[in-house]
Amino acid sequence: MKKVLVTGGAGYIGSHTVVALVEAGYEPIIVDNFYNASPKVIDRLELITKKKIKCYNVDCCDASKLDEVFKEVKPHAVIHFAGYKAVGESVSKPLMYYDNNLTSLLKVLECMVKYEVKNLVFSSSATVYGDPKSVPIYEDFPLHVTNPYGRTKLMIEEILTDFAKVNPDFRIALLRYFNPIGAHESHLIGEDPNGIPNNLVPYITQVCIGKLAKLRVFGNDYKTHDGTGVRDYIHVCDLALGHVLTLKRLDEVTDSLYIYNLGTGKGSSVLDVLHTMEKVVGHPIAHEIVARRPGDIDACYASPEKAFKELGFKAKYDLYDMCKSAWEFQENNPDGIK
Ligand code: UD1
Repeated sequence: MKKVLVTGGAGYIGSHTVVALVEAGYEPIIVDNFYNASPKVIDRLELITKKKIKCYNVDCCDASKLDEVFKEVKPHAVIHFAGYKAVGESVSKPLMYYDNNLTSLLKVLECMVKYEVKNLVFSSSATVYGDPKSVPIYEDFPLHVTNPYGRTKLMIEEILTDFAKVNPDFRIALLRYFNPIGAHESHLIGEDPNGIPNNLVPYITQVCIGKLAKLRVFGNDYKTHDGTGVRDYIHVCDLALGHVLTLKRLDEVTDSLYIYNLGTGKGSSVLDVLHTMEKVVGHPIAHEIVARRPGDIDACYASPEKAFKELGFKAKYDLYDMCKSAWEFQENNPDGIK
């Protein structure tokens, strides 16, 4: 059974990927410092997979502890999710973001070189496209970032591109996620933000359970079908499967660097999401239109063609499924994963 080291494996996308890895016959091993995830996630992963999930409570920036993990595990591949991810916080604390996100990647890469672990999947983001010249977005579009969080993603992509050029025996994939939402069907794992959510769907579900008064729709004068911002929402379980397909692909290919969008190719507006969620919960959801949020763009959705052609990746869940699972997770975990 191939061992896959999953850094940040207790987080939102990481935990769903751990489940997909077990289902595909891999042995995932988690490295997480639980800065932004509950240790309870591990128990829940064991309930879902009915397997013991090995987990190291280690910060990837801690070179000597990480070295011990690599020495002990000797994985076949690494999926690197660990990192800070809040855009607003990255603007107010840029050094914290550069230090953590870049250091952890560098330490992981150094261990991979030392222990000859040659397959790496990196968790990038559609944020690297900035305000795209058109939609859908193809992988060869120009890259442009507007905040320190996005810059750490782009800098890591650049570091890995330089590294891949001089390490032709490595197989590296950069996965650019669009907007992951939803939760595993068990409702045991899902998006569990600290404090008031920044992202649309967890904000709406918290309005629905009465924790927040109403959704503020950030702007209705965008160049989109109803004036509200359009994004490519993808079910986190579809996204998780994308990682499994990528790992398989890395075992077959001969080049050292691959880049894929993981999205559905469909754009949905804020009001589309709101109205879908209203169908799911069966009543209107309080909302008001307010000013635009600084830094937001009109529309962002993927061309999913390359991932389909080369990975066989195709999202199977639609917006209703995604909203339903997000809501069910929220209902079952009103205070998050405690
Ligand atoms: C945001 C980040 C992006 C990150 C992604 C991770 C920004 C500018 N971008 O993407 O870098 O990779 O999260 O998931 O923060 N909206 C509202 N009201 C709300 C919240 C959101 O109207 O309370 C709208 C936004 O204006 C946007 C859409 O909902 O049109 C989606 O917003 P969000 O879920 O925050 O994702 P992004 O901004 O696309």
